[in-house]
Amino acid sequence: MRTFDTIIRGGTVATASDTFAADLGIRDGRIAALGHDLGEAAEVIDASGRLVLPGGIDSHVHFAQPSGPGIVMADGFETGTRSAAFGGNTTVMPFCVQQKGQTLREALKGYHAEAQGRCHVDVSFHLVIADPTEGVLGQELPALVEDGYTSFKVFMTYEGMKLSDLEMLNVMSVARETGALVMVHAENDDAIRFLIDRLERQGDIAPKFHATSRPIPVEREATHRAISLAEIVDVPVMIVHVSNGEAMEEIRRAQSRGLKVYGETCPQYLVLTAADLEGLNMEGAKLVCSPPPRDAASQEACWRGIETGVVSTFSSDHCPFRYDDPQGKLNPRGRTSFRWVPNGIPGVAARLPILFSEGVSKGRIDLNRFVALSSTNHAKTYGLYPRKGTIAIGSDADVAIWDPERQVTLTHSMLGDGADYTPYEGIDIKGWPVLTMVRGTTVMRDGELVGGPDHGRHLARERSALARPRGQV
Ligand code: URP
Ligand code: ZN
Ligand code: ZN
Repeated sequence: MRTFDTIIRGGTVATASDTFAADLGIRDGRIAALGHDLGEAAEVIDASGRLVLPGGIDSHVHFAQPSGPGIVMADGFETGTRSAAFGGNTTVMPFCVQQKGQTLREALKGYHAEAQGRCHVDVSFHLVIADPTEGVLGQELPALVEDGYTSFKVFMTYEGMKLSDLEMLNVMSVARETGALVMVHAENDDAIRFLIDRLERQGDIAPKFHATSRPIPVEREATHRAISLAEIVDVPVMIVHVSNGEAMEEIRRAQSRGLKVYGETCPQYLVLTAADLEGLNMEGAKLVCSPPPRDAASQEACWRGIETGVVSTFSSDHCPFRYDDPQGKLNPRGRTSFRWVPNGIPGVAARLPILFSEGVSKGRIDLNRFVALSSTNHAKTYGLYPRKGTIAIGSDADVAIWDPERQVTLTHSMLGDGADYTPYEGIDIKGWPVLTMVRGTTVMRDGELVGGPDHGRHLARERSALARPRGQV
């Protein structure tokens, strides 16, 4: 008798806490058994010599996001989730952005329509609050948290998105009442505007000056302010895309004072620097993202954050624009000043190979911390655990099988996204995801998609384990 739909046999399983040899028995999309001699199955996947890990969860990606007049993001849900599958991810969390004057329900309706039938992996939306009206704060947000949209991002910079300190306090206050988690993009907008104006007056308009216009104090000050606002409201907060040691130190200090402050970093802050833009002229636009990559000391500080637990989630901040495209990095205004180059770089497929190779293969972190940073902590932080983010009986059979010895030189064509470049071109990688399985169905095998873009589902989420209202366990 066949007991399982699928057995993954002969691999080494790793979770955020343990590494052990076991076969996985999968039934009805869930993990039904962990052990040996599990018997028969309709499908048996040989994982000998391979690692069997919880599928990656990337809790910070941008797909199909309105990006300003004349600019089009390079990935919608079809190519974005395809690329996610190539990189060993089984769930991604993009941002549903509220436009000024729009209700959150209107924004969600449009965003769900974008995603419908176009997802290779599971998705779950954060909300970006750009217009915190009384209706948003008093009615929509509390109702949407109940509906499973349990995290909001707020921006301290970007025209049309940035909130004042008062508005941030109001959003944080709703998060505290409802048990939602607030994610903060921490950069001081006035300082950036001042620096951009000054650079333009000097004629410093090439893309490399993007990094000059957003120096470390811009991020450090806003990080400190965001943490202070969260402390005033007494609410947990996630500082996203932390790029340097001074911002990291603000988070570490808050954590050591017992505040619920969490940190995220991304591959661009581990393997790129501002110096990579030197001498590139317009090609520097390929690396324009905010905060910008910094220097070797900042890279080390981000690694220290990872190694010491100041950083709990490692995300891609995948925000793709084509380079050689009038609707992308080389839009007509972008050629006149870095001010108009759309911010963001692709990375959803490269995120985990970079962390595995630079972290595990080079001995900086162990496999269990890799699993925590790439999957488990995202699930816990954003209310998906233990359905997602681990290998345990009853959890969704979301699995990535890795060949820890596979050596690859990264090139854009292997990443499957809609951009026309990768900022990580030419990086040597050791360790590669060879199979991605979402709820028991293989969606990627050996760099080929298996099945169509209608397998992924939108996930309503529980409240974050980090942000439950007082009195609730
Ligand atoms: O440059 C970036 N990071 N663009 C994406 C939007 C954001 O701030 O996360
Ligand atoms: Zn951001
Ligand atoms: Zn982002």
